[in-house]
Amino acid sequence: MGARLNRVGERRPRKILIDTDPGIDDAMAIFYALESPELDVVGLTTVFGNAHTDVTTRNALRLLEIAGRTDIPVARGADRPLAMEYRGPVPFVHGDDGMGNTVLDAPTTRPIATAAHRFIVETVMAHPGEITLVPLGPLTNVAAALAAEPTLAQHLAGIVLMGGNAFCGGNASPGAEANIINDPEAADAVFAAPCDIVMAGLDVTEQTLMTNADLARYRRGTTPAAAHVAAITPFYANFYRHRLGLDGIHVHDSTCISYLLAPQHYTWVEHPVCVDTGDSVCRGKTLAALRGVTDREVAWSGRRDVRILTGVDDRAVVELELARMGC
Ligand code: RIB
Ligand code: CA
Repeated sequence: MGARLNRVGERRPRKILIDTDPGIDDAMAIFYALESPELDVVGLTTVFGNAHTDVTTRNALRLLEIAGRTDIPVARGADRPLAMEYRGPVPFVHGDDGMGNTVLDAPTTRPIATAAHRFIVETVMAHPGEITLVPLGPLTNVAAALAAEPTLAQHLAGIVLMGGNAFCGGNASPGAEANIINDPEAADAVFAAPCDIVMAGLDVTEQTLMTNADLARYRRGTTPAAAHVAAITPFYANFYRHRLGLDGIHVHDSTCISYLLAPQHYTWVEHPVCVDTGDSVCRGKTLAALRGVTDREVAWSGRRDVRILTGVDDRAVVELELARMGC
């Protein structure tokens, strides 16, 4: 998905639509995208995941207010997965408020009346070939949009999603990553979509460490967005210290932004992907067909290769994110 040039050969900003469950790392990724002139954030759609959709929607509105970008619409999305009950929020990771228990002021803005999946369809169909979807949470809204408009995939520039674990263990269960296990049926439908898909899964995000010294640099920032990141990340870093003994945080959602800005810092493999939608201990696992697809691998047949990120120059992408945030 190369950058598009305008008529005079200048790089036009890539239009991206972020589907999100803010969420501390979602907030970091959203601010990072807003601070990157190569990207034009045309909207946020919200979904359950790190917190209930009421909370993630309120947070999405507040993040845009903090960033001074209330020109960007927020469309509220699904409250629950396609085919099961919502597994519930993760307050021990992101806080009861999804923002590290910083208890933000209530937003003064409101979401648009259009539901998230309809907003995705209308935006993509109004800009054929120009919109890149950047899902940072469960894929329920994206799957609903694909079902609502059967030609959606061919009108997309592509999908760059944070989710999955192709060659490593899970973080929400031993077998699965949080965004995928929160709606395996939706995720499987997305990985079946006939469009360019980049999977920024745990394979690469757990190789990307933003240390506590890196995080401290947000306190030197001069923008309200940098100050907000400085306020919400201590809670997140405490989770990683207690749970994994890390000096810092894994960079999950911002990996999608760094890939869009600097793909040269990543390596990848490309294979068709299915999601385990059964009820075993592996439910939600993303399964790459490494050895090709024969007529025995029926589930993968007809699916396009997914670009699965597997390696990263993590210092380069951490420095890029901090630089964009003025830190
Ligand atoms: O597994 C990490 C993902 O789950 C991130 O998107 C984080 O925000 C949570 O949604
Ligand atoms: Ca997220």
